[in-house]
Amino acid sequence: MAGTIVIKLGGSTLGSHDTTLADLVALQKKGVPMVVVHGGANIVTEWLRRMNIASKFVKGLRATDAETLKVVVAILAGLVNKELVAAVQALGGRAVGLSGIDGGLLGAQVKDPGLGYVGDVVEVNPASLKALLDAGFIPVVAPLSYQSPPEAGDHGFILNVNGDTAAGQIAAALGAEKLIFLTDVAGILDGSKRLISKMSVPEAKAMLASGVASGGMIPKIEACLVALPTVRMARIIDGRAAHALVKEVEGGTEGTTIA
Ligand SMILES: Nc1ncnc2c1ncn2[C@@H]1O[C@H](COP(=O)(O)OP(=O)(O)OP(=O)(O)O)[C@@H](O)[C@H]1O
Ligand SMILES: [Mg+2]
Repeated sequence: MAGTIVIKLGGSTLGSHDTTLADLVALQKKGVPMVVVHGGANIVTEWLRRMNIASKFVKGLRATDAETLKVVVAILAGLVNKELVAAVQALGGRAVGLSGIDGGLLGAQVKDPGLGYVGDVVEVNPASLKALLDAGFIPVVAPLSYQSPPEAGDHGFILNVNGDTAAGQIAAALGAEKLIFLTDVAGILDGSKRLISKMSVPEAKAMLASGVASGGMIPKIEACLVALPTVRMARIIDGRAAHALVKEVEGGTEGTTIA
């Protein structure tokens, strides 16, 4: 949808003192159509720890066995999603929480059996998002998917999808204007930890190949590459900075642009 902005909120930036949710409400009041996709890796890790389940990440993706998946679903689609929606509403905004499972938004296949129940998105149906946007809501999406085609197992036909991956796929399917990642670093950093302000698609591919981008930055860059043929611009910005989102939309933040 023309003019729509897809915003990925990194779990690490979802602190109680940040201004991101107030920014979302301010932008909604100005009529900016937005879809939010959230992460929550550190909150999931904390709840897994309470249940004595260890967390393991491979290239930025959480290895997900059946027990881990249950906690991922409960925490992302439950606690994190509902806290976000309630907070937006408390600030005077209008939001509806859903997951990639709901309305058949994201269909996925097992990415790599070694990672367990982690999905590679193969189908996107943004009809639910369009309906919510048309009705003036901010859809707030928890990154989960249904399995397509479904395979019987102990995972309830659900797969865990990285939040960055979900955001990139949704932005592409909506033909969004812009894809913005709010994270806990200034943007993409080079080998000397200096901020890279602008990158082309070949440069982004080279960065992935070089290993300078590691961990949680890998799925972000990959998501930009998925979205960019249809989305005009992808941005990776520091979500810890006060009013990062309003400043970003009104022009004038640092961070990395991939275009
Ligand atoms: N070249 C790089 N430039 C910047 N950050 C990098 C780079 N390589 C790896 N990273 C790491 O990527 C991290 C951001 O990804 P991470 O997955 O931790 O957060 P998030 O995606 O914002 O949150 P969540 O996973 O909860 O949604 C940074 O904190 C940094 O440690
Ligand atoms: Mg991440």
